Amino acid sequence: MNPNKPLGLTPSMGWNSWNTFTWDINEQLVRDVADLFISEGYKDAGYEYIVIDDCWSLKERDENGNLKADPIKFPSGMRALADYVHAKGLKFGMYSCVGTHTCAGYPGSFEHEFQDALLFAEWGVDFLKYDFCFKPRHISGELMYKRMSLALKNCGRDILFSACNWGEDNVYQWIRESGAHMYRSTGDIQDHWDSIKNLTLSQLDKECYTGSFCHNDMDMLVVGMYGGSNNDFIGSKIGGCSDNEYKTHFSLWSIMGSPLMIGCDIRNANQATKDILLNHDLIAINQDIEGRGAYRIKPEPQWFHSDDVFMLVKVLTNGDLAIGFFNLSDSQRELSLQFWDIGLPYASGISLSLYDCWEHKELGVYKERFSPVVPAHDCLVVRAKLVN
Ligand code: GLA
Repeated sequence: MNPNKPLGLTPSMGWNSWNTFTWDINEQLVRDVADLFISEGYKDAGYEYIVIDDCWSLKERDENGNLKADPIKFPSGMRALADYVHAKGLKFGMYSCVGTHTCAGYPGSFEHEFQDALLFAEWGVDFLKYDFCFKPRHISGELMYKRMSLALKNCGRDILFSACNWGEDNVYQWIRESGAHMYRSTGDIQDHWDSIKNLTLSQLDKECYTGSFCHNDMDMLVVGMYGGSNNDFIGSKIGGCSDNEYKTHFSLWSIMGSPLMIGCDIRNANQATKDILLNHDLIAINQDIEGRGAYRIKPEPQWFHSDDVFMLVKVLTNGDLAIGFFNLSDSQRELSLQFWDIGLPYASGISLSLYDCWEHKELGVYKERFSPVVPAHDCLVVRAKLVN
């Protein structure tokens, strides 16, 4: 283990093949993504894991019971692909499942956990996403995640364990103790505003459970997909979002401490997509070393606002606050934040100097309250510094 950056200290950042490509994956795609991580600045921004999701293997294990990479999709084999990714200073991730089969019907790791963990270590895998399909009914999911966690922690290689049970069985109550570094808390995201909104609202009261070494994973990002997926459920028949909605999505995932796993085809990312995914001010909030969850405040007057209009406040290591003003409703709203509500009484004489994390500019110094008007489906995220 690298003592300088222990696994899972901050939310993982990377790319995952599923949202856009599903079964249509191959080694060239992975290499292209690794190349782009370097040339387009993703690595410099903090993205490091390149993860192959479901559909990478053959439908049967080999004569020794080992998983086999599909030789048509991955003719050079997984070790060579991991070497390619590592040579760029990046990390390589793969996917398996608690059950007898993966969700797409490939072999799962049930009763092969220790064997598969060793194989992943041999291949140079640094990250394992572990799904929840085809779990035998007589066994608890909790036990299955404990088992694979143990296998990974003893396989001879640092492998970040990304549990993916979609929030079943009140996962937040037991997952940290199991040893997983991140845990999917929701069903699958779709490239649609309603999905982003619903996933967010479902996790607002779970922020007290997320934090260093075990992060609440609200699913891979749909930023930049614009409906482009070969999965009807995720995107192609669903339609995509506007750039402002993607910006709000990225802001929510950043401030709520979710891993930031890109799900679009970065080979064709437009400038708006890159500006969102590479927003260093938002990434700094997400990666803040103390890894605190955000707390929610209702804007004043409280009776006036519905639950989809709220502010999130994240306490940062250096004493600053990240404050997101989120308007997930369908009409423009004024979101009035009284500084009293974040622990700053007027009598203290202290003001807040606000910096806009999307426009990348100072907004000025405010005393007692700040009341931005936020368009529908939009947000304002500021970094607030206390000043006398
Ligand atoms: C589940 C997961 C998805 C993806 C697919 C693969 O639905 O939640 O993120 O991994 O399986 O089949």
